[in-house]
Amino acid sequence: MTTAQITGWGMAAPPTVLSNHDLEQLTETNDEWITTRSGIKERRISHVPLSDMATVAGHRALAAAGLEPEDIDLLILATCSGDTIIPSAASFVQAKMALTNAAAFDINAACSGWIYGLEHATAMIRSGIKQRVLLIGAERLSHYLDFTDRSTAVLFGDGAGATVLEAADEGGVRSTTTGIDGDAAELLWVPGVGSNTPPGCDLPATSGVRMNGREVFKRAVTMMGEASTKVVADAGWELEDVDLLIPHQANMRIIDATARRLGLDPDKVVTNIHAYGNTSAATIPMALTEAIEAGRVQPGSNIVFAAFGGGLTWAAAALTWGDRVESIGTSDAEFPRTDQTAFDLLAPNIEYFGKGV
Ligand SMILES: CC(C)(COP(=O)(O)OP(=O)(O)OC[C@H]1O[C@@H](n2cnc3c(N)ncnc32)[C@H](O)[C@@H]1OP(=O)(O)O)[C@@H](O)C(=O)NCCC(=O)NCCS
Repeated sequence: MTTAQITGWGMAAPPTVLSNHDLEQLTETNDEWITTRSGIKERRISHVPLSDMATVAGHRALAAAGLEPEDIDLLILATCSGDTIIPSAASFVQAKMALTNAAAFDINAACSGWIYGLEHATAMIRSGIKQRVLLIGAERLSHYLDFTDRSTAVLFGDGAGATVLEAADEGGVRSTTTGIDGDAAELLWVPGVGSNTPPGCDLPATSGVRMNGREVFKRAVTMMGEASTKVVADAGWELEDVDLLIPHQANMRIIDATARRLGLDPDKVVTNIHAYGNTSAATIPMALTEAIEAGRVQPGSNIVFAAFGGGLTWAAAALTWGDRVESIGTSDAEFPRTDQTAFDLLAPNIEYFGKGV
């Protein structure tokens, strides 16, 4: 049976760093609290639009797959922080990358978006409707950071990760699961933007990220564990067959609890949350790219991806890696140079919401 395999990978982390110590100047917090409660040490703040970050990651993934832009027949961009409401962020990326033969759309499943996209890409490839899919997860959540709310402002960052999926005869995506609990949507949301807001209404108190952290935490641990267990069983594996868990990077304690539930040793778990914070739909393709570059993905590795996020969504996938762990080519796609500090880039947020100190 035809299956879908990841044949290209790449990431784009904006160069400007916002450390926990920097945050102490913006909100009532400290490095020790952020580190022990979340595992985050620093995050990146983008000086370019989301579609530019996605474009850099996309070019790198295409080069790794040895493909040209015109080879792609579908672009799926997982994001909840696109450049504009209309058109999709995928529309801008299609143009910037010159994906001249591709259809393109966004998926908004928040932090679960890349795995939602993986499920759709797999179905498209298995059915023969599409042959080569560029699947990008990208977020610019810094736009929604409100430093008067220290419980959310310290958690999120910007970044993009991209993957190419192509048809293969064996291995590849073995099982996926996706779900949502819309009744709990208001536990994690960005209210005050969108068509349910009166035209011209601009209420500072209602357009940052709002979250009931404790409740989201509990549900994330439960659902990431359940979803992972399901895809392992559906793949016909035992838990000991799993070589790597690449989880959504929201909180180190959520990741540790999920790994414990699955009985996985920490050395089988990929984490980079300390460096980037929660980049929502981008965390998994970024972590995958770093894992490949660090030699942690081997030919034939059995990998589980698991995520949880706004919606409230959850998702997991089981995949057996192919033979190739080296990139075919490299891309010279790069961010434009900037001298702006994170404080410069966040000045509009501070003007709009105010400081929390
Ligand atoms: C947000 C989160 C880190 C908070 O950790 P927690 O252990 O639940 O902390 P609490 O919310 O119970 O707050 C504990 C105390 O720390 C304080 N606090 C909150 N944010 C703080 C910060 N940035 N710095 C210092 N203190 C902070 C709270 O005010 C509270 O103080 P109090 O006891 O005096 O009232 C945690 O709930 C979490 O990670 N939740 C899931 C978030 C997530 O991953 N969301 C995305 C899913 S995709």
